[in-house]
Amino acid sequence: MTTDLKNIVLTGFMGTGKTTVGKRLAKRLDYDFVDTDVLIEQRAGRSIPEIFEHGGEAVFRQLEAEIAQELALSERLVIATGGGMMVNPDNAAVLSQSGLVFCLVASPEEILSRLLRDTDHPRPLLAVPDPHERILALLRQREAVYGRFPQLVTTGKQPDEIVTELQRRLSGC
Ligand code: S3P
Repeated sequence: MTTDLKNIVLTGFMGTGKTTVGKRLAKRLDYDFVDTDVLIEQRAGRSIPEIFEHGGEAVFRQLEAEIAQELALSERLVIATGGGMMVNPDNAAVLSQSGLVFCLVASPEEILSRLLRDTDHPRPLLAVPDPHERILALLRQREAVYGRFPQLVTTGKQPDEIVTELQRRLSGC
């Protein structure tokens, strides 16, 4: 595989399976795995909802941008990014240069049902009276950002099927 040493970066909306798929892909490739949200929480010493509550979204986005620059210097990482990471063009540019980016895609209904089940990781952007409407609005806003990367649909598929599909695509790179 000519992708050796390059990072594999997973983007896509919240709840599309980036962390689950990323961890399994890293294991199969014998790469290290990182989740940018976890790094941000470690650095801030606070959970993501607490960061949003204390400093607002701007503080969160600043930490996210610093982490993008740092991770781009690494090699052989599978990086699961927060769903808003690639909205910042500087983050998208630096991470795209550091490796291969894939975008995981799920239907809005699947996203909502997965996020409602994921009570350990509340998403501040969806803490609104109508999260379904918010998901649709954010997906519309981010359509062009996500659309720049090769897509993999995760709705109705098992994580291992997605990992196998990613490996198949990587072998063609
Ligand atoms: C966000 C996605 C979240 C997290 C934060 C903001 C977004 O990550 O970074 O709540 O802007 O889409 P996940 O995509 O891992 O849920």
